[in-house]
Amino acid sequence: MSQQTVAVIGSGGREHAIIKAIKKSPLVSKIYCLPGNGGIAADAECVSIGVMETQKIVDFCKEKAIDFVIVAPDDPLAAGTVDALNAAGFKCFGPKKDAAIIESSKIFSKNLMKKYGIPTAAYEVFTESAKAIEYLKTQDMPIVIKCDGLALGKGVIIAETLDEAIEAVKEMMDGGKFGASGANVVIEEFMTGPEVTVLSFTDGNVVIPMVSSMDHKRAHDNDEGLNTGGMGTVAPNPYYTEAIAKECMEKIFLPTIKAMNAEGRTFKGCLYFGLMLTPKGPKVIEYNCRFGDPETQVVLPLLESDLFKIMVATADGTLADTEVKFSDKSACCVIYATKGYPEKYEKGLPMTLPDADAFAARTSTVSDALIYVAGAKKAEDGSLLSNGGRVLGITTVADTLKDAVAASYALTKEVKFDGGFYRNDIGARALKALK
Ligand code: AMP
Ligand code: GLY
Repeated sequence: MSQQTVAVIGSGGREHAIIKAIKKSPLVSKIYCLPGNGGIAADAECVSIGVMETQKIVDFCKEKAIDFVIVAPDDPLAAGTVDALNAAGFKCFGPKKDAAIIESSKIFSKNLMKKYGIPTAAYEVFTESAKAIEYLKTQDMPIVIKCDGLALGKGVIIAETLDEAIEAVKEMMDGGKFGASGANVVIEEFMTGPEVTVLSFTDGNVVIPMVSSMDHKRAHDNDEGLNTGGMGTVAPNPYYTEAIAKECMEKIFLPTIKAMNAEGRTFKGCLYFGLMLTPKGPKVIEYNCRFGDPETQVVLPLLESDLFKIMVATADGTLADTEVKFSDKSACCVIYATKGYPEKYEKGLPMTLPDADAFAARTSTVSDALIYVAGAKKAEDGSLLSNGGRVLGITTVADTLKDAVAASYALTKEVKFDGGFYRNDIGARALKALK
């Protein structure tokens, strides 16, 4: 393969992690990020084209003779950006629209799992609120209500009481709280057990799981506060043993790839398995059609193989012949968010970042330290200003999870960001599980 010019679509910490990883490939000569952000600009040329501006993306790829496009976020994947790029002759990493539906419609994914016997919570689908409410009256609480479509991770309500459940159904189906995404709902059984994320590479022929990880979704310590996009991650996830991994491959990963093929919706790209390890075995909570954020920020630093080669192989269907190797080290990512997130927060707040490489060099336990920028813009004087809810992802890699957690916090304390906050207990649950 000759050297390649690459375009990455997206603007968050996940995209920054992908860019830092492919930058290490000898095959990559130039990286554009559309639109990127003020921090990503240190690693790629950012171009102000939005992720949903499909025609502009296609035109840009033509103008710059792009060799390979990585479409990272769910919205453009669900909208068919890969289809449009493929039609214009561009090779992409990411599923086409007909496969991205595995994330963009919960009704589709639940019905797929039922049809192919893939373990998941028992459920019913409703298109009318009156019928949903009648059903709720016959069910045990707590119960889980999910809107069908994409809702930035916020379209899931765990209702403790019948009143709460009815309220949630009314808000979603009649109140338009999530727009068209909430017009239809899935009501499902409440499951218990540790949660595990497994990202995987697949070309439709084989599926290769990446190292497992654990997200921390609530805004505050001890899993208090509102659900967020994710406040921190660790990898590997200590609950995910080799025996469980084997069971997941047999009962979940391979059956899912085969099911998508059988439906004529071959999935190529990164398939995200959100799992719950229930007393009755691992079950699927959700699929995502893309890399997770902030799971990517701990998984990719542990990848020893060439990410770019792997991505090209998923598009070419040659993944079986491609090396995908992870180190046996551990990683921890602490998200620095703006005070007020996930509700109202200010933008344009000043921050100063430490030198992550220098930190890694002087910290004997640390083999790698990375500061991923999720939401920032450049001020006129070149300094960084916050520009979003989740602002930074501070990641370190060490031989043990304990050292990675300690080091990520040490590095986080060197960040100057008065308007920000972070959780103090990322990795605490994982460390407890290791004991
Ligand atoms: P989702 O957007 O589907 O990942 O759901 C968000 C979060 O809600 C998950 O990470 C779980 O913590 C929780 N959740 C979703 N579905 C269930 C379920 N059936 N039982 C228990 N918790 C759930
Ligand atoms: N961290 C969860 C997600 O990316 O959906």
